Amino acid sequence: MYIDLMPLKALLDENEYKVTILSNASAYLYNSLNDINWLGFYILDNDYLYLGPFQGKPACIKIAVGKGVCGNTIKENKTLVVPNVLEYKGHIACDSNSRSEVCIPIYVNNEIYGLLDIDSPIFDRFNNDLVEELKEAVKIIETALLNAK
Ligand code: SME
Repeated sequence: MYIDLMPLKALLDENEYKVTILSNASAYLYNSLNDINWLGFYILDNDYLYLGPFQGKPACIKIAVGKGVCGNTIKENKTLVVPNVLEYKGHIACDSNSRSEVCIPIYVNNEIYGLLDIDSPIFDRFNNDLVEELKEAVKIIETALLNAK
């Protein structure tokens, strides 16, 4: 087990605002993982992803659907794991230290809401077990978002 999900659930319970949920989720997950240089959320509005709460260096504020790892996660409607971002065509380098990345879509009311994006300064950081745990974390976040403004 890489991430303790019980405290995440407790932290996100009974929050009124989506921004509060995403802020604390980004802080909790960022501090739960080693070898991570950026972790945060992008929110989908029409054909663009907009920067949401995050931890790490300032990042791209707007990404078109179909661009970069994030935009392709939305276009392909699935989790993307990139073991080496230097080999990913069209990768958007917000932080030049990033070497691997994972993007997990977030659904609210069966509609795509946005995504969780995590960057690592080491290659191949995101193994299958870790990605499965991150998907569990995203499920907790989705449940919390469902009842928030
Ligand atoms: N690398 C992402 C852009 C977002 S930053 O990593 C925070 C991409 O290629 O879409």
